[in-house]
Amino acid sequence: MTNEAANTGPAGGGIFSIEGLRVQVEGKPILNGVDLEIRRGETHALMGPNGSGKSTLANVILGHPDYEVTGGAIRCDGHDLLALAPEERARLGVFLAFQYPVAVPGVTVARFLKTACDAVLGEARRLSASAFLARLREEAAFLEMDESFIHRPLNEGFSGGEKKRMEILQMRMLRPAYVVLDETDSGLDIDALKTVARGVTGRTGPDLGLLVITHYERILRYIRPDHLHILIDGRIARSGGPELVRELEDRGYDWVRAAGARAPAEAPA
Ligand SMILES: Nc1ncnc2c1ncn2[C@@H]1O[C@H](COP(=O)(O)OP(=O)(O)OP(=O)(O)O)[C@@H](O)[C@H]1O
Ligand SMILES: [Mg+2]
Repeated sequence: MTNEAANTGPAGGGIFSIEGLRVQVEGKPILNGVDLEIRRGETHALMGPNGSGKSTLANVILGHPDYEVTGGAIRCDGHDLLALAPEERARLGVFLAFQYPVAVPGVTVARFLKTACDAVLGEARRLSASAFLARLREEAAFLEMDESFIHRPLNEGFSGGEKKRMEILQMRMLRPAYVVLDETDSGLDIDALKTVARGVTGRTGPDLGLLVITHYERILRYIRPDHLHILIDGRIARSGGPELVRELEDRGYDWVRAAGARAPAEAPA
């Protein structure tokens, strides 16, 4: 199976860039000029205190209507992302897993994923029902999900861990070019965390740009970031390499705040 991304953009040379992004919710500024560049092939981690704006950033990337962009731009392989409807963003290869996935009564996992794949992958890459089901079974098995799972109604009575696996299953079926995972690790037991991480890293490669939002260093032991960014009060207060994870665990966000107050933050990597 190839690692081919859903979109037809420039593999290897693609870039997802966030420039001076300002966002407000109900008149309250949440993001105050966020700059971030994710190239295909790179894994970035985003950490930051509760309420710093991490999920807001993820929601804006998806095109959630509650969030008003008041400045800046997001470009995906040269396309002006903010000018596009959410489904057009998905067709460009942008994927986002939700922090709190919703229940969709009556629609099975298989039906939901077939519809999503048909909408995103386009005519040429569309699979027949039987080929789709075969691939879905294969992917579910890879994520150690029971076969019966794919015939269950979407998210109805799913455990926290099952919802997270479902997100990764969706990611593996859609083969996006850019993925934002917002707290995919929260609420997972140790084994599930490893399985989910394996599901993600199995898809990393030159075609995929990945942004992992997390509170915990633990998942970053399995999904190793090339770059780490710390969001504080709606700004990237610091960016660095993977070594920053340990420093953050040891010294906490106050250290970043204090360092930020003394010297301007290093430019995002
Ligand atoms: N839809 C919304 N309506 C009102 N306020 C919102 C909305 N979404 C976000 N906010 C506010 O924006 C701020 C940032 O929230 P956000 O969810 O982006 O933080 P976060 O960094 O993801 O936090 P956490 O680590 O707790 O997940 C918070 O003060 C939050 O209450
Ligand atoms: Mg959040």
